[in-house]
Amino acid sequence: NKNMNGFPANFLWGGATAANQVEGAYNIGGKGLTTADMVPYVPKSERGLNFAIDVDSNYIEKVLKGEIQDTYPKRYGVDFYHRYKEDIALLAELGLKAFRLSINWARIFPNGDDAEPNAEGLQFYDNVFDELKKYDIEPIVTLSHYETPLSLTLKYNGWYSREVIGFFTKYAETVFNRYSDKVKYWITFNEINMIGHSPYTGGGVLIDKVPNKTKAQISYQAAHHQFVASALATKIAHEINPEMKIGCMLARTQTYPVTNNPDDVQLALHQNDLNLFYTDVHATGEYPVYMNRYFAENNIVIEKEVGDDEILKQYPVDYISLSYYMSKSVAVDPEKHEVVAGNLVSNAVKNQYLDTSDWGWQIDPKGLRITLRDMHNRYKKPLFIVENGLGAYDKVEEDGSIHDTYRIDYLQKHIQQMKEAIKDGVDLIGYTSWGPIDLISMSTSEMSKRYGFIYVDQDDEGNGTLNRSRKDSFYWYQGVIATNGSEL
Ligand code: BG6
Repeated sequence: NKNMNGFPANFLWGGATAANQVEGAYNIGGKGLTTADMVPYVPKSERGLNFAIDVDSNYIEKVLKGEIQDTYPKRYGVDFYHRYKEDIALLAELGLKAFRLSINWARIFPNGDDAEPNAEGLQFYDNVFDELKKYDIEPIVTLSHYETPLSLTLKYNGWYSREVIGFFTKYAETVFNRYSDKVKYWITFNEINMIGHSPYTGGGVLIDKVPNKTKAQISYQAAHHQFVASALATKIAHEINPEMKIGCMLARTQTYPVTNNPDDVQLALHQNDLNLFYTDVHATGEYPVYMNRYFAENNIVIEKEVGDDEILKQYPVDYISLSYYMSKSVAVDPEKHEVVAGNLVSNAVKNQYLDTSDWGWQIDPKGLRITLRDMHNRYKKPLFIVENGLGAYDKVEEDGSIHDTYRIDYLQKHIQQMKEAIKDGVDLIGYTSWGPIDLISMSTSEMSKRYGFIYVDQDDEGNGTLNRSRKDSFYWYQGVIATNGSEL
């Protein structure tokens, strides 16, 4: 193990964003509407801590007819579209070696199924990549980060339709060709497993349009189409430039049994398998055998075409990326345990050893080490943490400073565990913390759920100067990168 002392010299320290959460300019430069543009901001008093991301076809229809007027934060983001030069200069000052961003599919193909790409959209990302290049920041580019062109949803019901595979591979081929000498690391689908939690967010699928099927049946079918699309994109990328590295991306939730009762242990194992299923397919090129029984018992029949299995087998990913925010604990008899009331973990029980964030996410740095070791053993492929961080409320002091010690504490402990995992022998190529600059929350569309080292002056309703300023964590992370993680 050559990394017994910690981080390798070329470790990709970075930050991660998504187009729909930062760019804004939703109807500028020829961009079409996406699914994210239709997600309203719902105040916490009406929503609780939970997700506000699922909309149905009735809602979309009303919005398009102008019968509903809500606030749509993902339409304005934090105006990265106009301020990318200023923002990238700040990220360079922070010392980032890598910056993860997504291409908004609807900037390139406004309707998803257009014959020709939109030249202005292509030029925008050229400008962004050139700006990053100026500072030697490596772009890590996600092709699809919850940004399905809305018209693919309305015309085809998104990824539930097999036809969308062809539109996606055309989009992928277009950007691989265009940026083949500017972008080396690509990610096909952000948190591909999220399609199971929210088919709309994860795949632009309106489940109310598919009668007589369960959400699980619909989402696994849509996921199958994404698997095939991801494998074909990998094939195309390697043909265009064999140097390009294509990765998949999983929202990894390390799951523990709440007791050592073998029933709880078995349940946790099963839930970990259901989570890792998506990376299993991408890494090994086949559906894992444990899913056969699960599919049978849940009446899930995946419609495949002849040749699909061969495509998956022939084009597995080059590396595996993951987001990691929390762990969860499960019990066969949850009613006998304390429950966690919060975003994303509503079906889990409380882990008495862990604290939770203000959004109910259980903070578990050591879980990251456990996850990395586990995934390393399972896949023997390079791993890349492309999201991790603490969503928190920040207070701006009178002199403009922001003392976000809680954020430093969270990140410091996670990076420490990541370092331990590297010493254990895990092949980890980089770490891009989520939202180096404050951005719109994916799950709640709030602005006040902040992850950044850089503060953006904007509130939940979209008011503010949009001015950027440095939080205490900015100087801390700058030091971490400058010392390659030896000073944490
Ligand atoms: C991941 C997503 O789920 O977590 C991001 O890939 C998202 O888009 C991040 O922003 C944090 O979640 P949230 O809901 O706090 O924004």
